[in-house]
Amino acid sequence: MTEIASLARYSRLQRILHWLTVLAVLTTIPAGLVMVQEGLPRPLQDWLYLYHKNIGPLILMLVLARLAARAAWPPPPLPVSVPPMQARIADTVHWLLYLFLLVMVISGFLRVQAGGFPMEIWDPLVGGFVARDKAVEAVAKTIHHWGRVPLMLLILAHIGAAALHGLVKRDGVFSRMWPPA
Ligand code: HEM
Ligand code: HEM
Repeated sequence: MTEIASLARYSRLQRILHWLTVLAVLTTIPAGLVMVQEGLPRPLQDWLYLYHKNIGPLILMLVLARLAARAAWPPPPLPVSVPPMQARIADTVHWLLYLFLLVMVISGFLRVQAGGFPMEIWDPLVGGFVARDKAVEAVAKTIHHWGRVPLMLLILAHIGAAALHGLVKRDGVFSRMWPPA
C-alpha cells in the first residue's frame, strides 16, 4: 500500500465544512471588493451588498463548527516526508485563517450595526444587537478594510501550498482534505 493510500483523512464532516467555507469565502471576498467600487450600477451594488451581508454570519457558523469538529477530531497526522518546521508553519497559517475570518465577520457585523444599517435576513435574529455609534463604526470599518489584506495573503499562501502538495509533490497532504464528501 502506498503512503498516500494509507494516510488518514480529515473526517467527512470536516471535509464538507472545509469546502463549504471555501465556497462561501471565495465568493464573499470578491463581492466585498467589487461592491465598494464607485460607479457600479445600483442594482448590481445592492445585490452584492445583500449577498455579502447575508453570507457573513454563515461563515461565522462554519468557522465555529470547524473549530468544534477540530476539537473533537484533531487533524490526522501528516506524512513523515513533511519537515516539522513546515508542519508548524502550516498549523500557524490554519489558526491565522480562522482568526482573520472571525475578525472579518465581527468587524463587518459591527460596522453595519453601529452604522445603523440592516443585517438583511439576519435582522429578526440580531437586529439592534449593537447600538448606533459613530466611533465604533469607524474603528470596525478600518479593521474590516485592512483585515482583507492579511486574510487574502494567508489564503493565497494556503492555496499555493495545497496546490504544491496536490500537483507537484503528490505526497498525500492534499488527499487529507479531498474529496469534499
Ligand atoms: C457579518 C459579516 C459581514 C458583514 C456585515 C460585512 C459587511 C461589509 C460592508 C458593509 C462592507 C463595505 C465596506 C465599507 O464601505 O465600509 C464590506 C466590505 C468588505 N468585506 Fe465584508 N462583511 C462581513 C463579512 C466579511 C467576511 C467574512 C469577509 C471575508 C471573508 C469580508 C470581506 C470584505 C471585503 C474584502 C470588503 C471590501 C473592503 C474594502 O475594500 O474596503 N466581509 N463588508
Ligand atoms: C477560502 C479559502 C480557504 C480557507 C479559509 C481554508 C482554510 C483551511 C483551514 C483552516 C485548514 C485547517 C483545517 C484544520 O486542521 O482545522 C485547511 C486545511 C486544508 N486546506 Fe484549506 N482553506 C481554503 C482553501 C483551500 C483550497 C482552495 C484548497 C485546495 C487547493 C485547500 C486545501 C486544504 C488542504 C489540503 C488542507 C489540509 C492541510 C493540512 O492538514 O496540512 N484549502 N484549510
